[in-house]
Amino acid sequence: MQNLGVAITGSGSALPANCLDNETLSKLVDTSDEWIASRTGIRQRRLATSAQSVSEIAAMAAKGAIAMARINPLDVDLIILATSTADDLFGSACQIQTQIGATNAVAFDLTAACSGFVFGLVTAAQFIRTGVYQNVVLIGGDILSRWVDWQDRSTCVLFGDGAGAVVMQARESDSLLGFEIKSNGTQNNCLNLSYSPESQSLTPDIEVGKGNFKPITMNGKEVYRFAVQRVPEVIDKALFQANITTEQVDWLILHQANQRILDAVAQRLNIPSHKVISNLANYGNTSAASIPIALDEAVRNGQIKTGDTVVVSGFGAGLTWGAAIFKWG
Ligand code: ACO
Repeated sequence: MQNLGVAITGSGSALPANCLDNETLSKLVDTSDEWIASRTGIRQRRLATSAQSVSEIAAMAAKGAIAMARINPLDVDLIILATSTADDLFGSACQIQTQIGATNAVAFDLTAACSGFVFGLVTAAQFIRTGVYQNVVLIGGDILSRWVDWQDRSTCVLFGDGAGAVVMQARESDSLLGFEIKSNGTQNNCLNLSYSPESQSLTPDIEVGKGNFKPITMNGKEVYRFAVQRVPEVIDKALFQANITTEQVDWLILHQANQRILDAVAQRLNIPSHKVISNLANYGNTSAASIPIALDEAVRNGQIKTGDTVVVSGFGAGLTWGAAIFKWG
């Protein structure tokens, strides 16, 4: 099989219409716009209704990316949905396949929390580079509002809902210049959306669990420390692989968790703030969706142009983190 290059040729995004600003949130829980904005940079977040599904917003984002890339849904070979909040534990990617009419595609979910989009990008690239697939739709989509404890001010102020997508295609030249992905399970307890063990007895001798999840728990300080240390390292490694310097980077798109993390990482890498894309004020932390939403907005508003060198880096639960460098278009 012939080895091929990867091009990222389309982007799309979708956000629920409902908007909750810090002012309104501070009537629900003991917080303030001042605290949230100064500690995180977040001003408001979009929230899905109980009737909305991850597959629905993910399909909307995918349609936008497919339209931009000008491909026929029937030519899509693979759909990867990066999510931690699938509508169905068996996976939601096949529902997207139906909703976008990509009936020839194989579809599966991938879970790596807020690193999901970067892990998905690297996974999709392997299928393309080995010549197995030509057209891949990668979506990052999450509805974390379902899984947040809305009484817990240390977490509920941070998250929002949304989806973002890209189309990745086989090309002779390779626009994916470098990547590095990492995991560290020893810090798994820093950030969890875990199964809550309840038991039910089947017979006097056999008991099994009963399905249920606890709301998100997070050690914010540890996650902050981890991000500020590990993200610059992993970007450095990806830059080394790509054989480029930070001066050659046009845009830095980090997972949109906290403006202080974005600033600290950019400072450590010596990347000036005008190259750092940030939209977390409007959407909060949308987990696997945050990088592709920011990418799509920057492409559509004319910031990111064909041939620009973009560094993306995700970090989050697992713990997982990673970076990828590509030329847009
Ligand atoms: N409103 C008002 N006060 C608050 C709030 C709030 N929403 N939340 C916490 N506080 C209080 C605390 O109780 C504490 O009070 P105390 O000093 O009297 O004890 C004080 O504010 C300081 O709290 P800290 O937790 O020390 O605040 P910090 O400056 O560390 O900021 C934050 C917290 C924003 C969570 C920060 O640690 C952070 O951003 N961490 C990274 C989180 C992250 O990126 N998570 C997502 C990873 S992605 C994924 O995989 C899902």
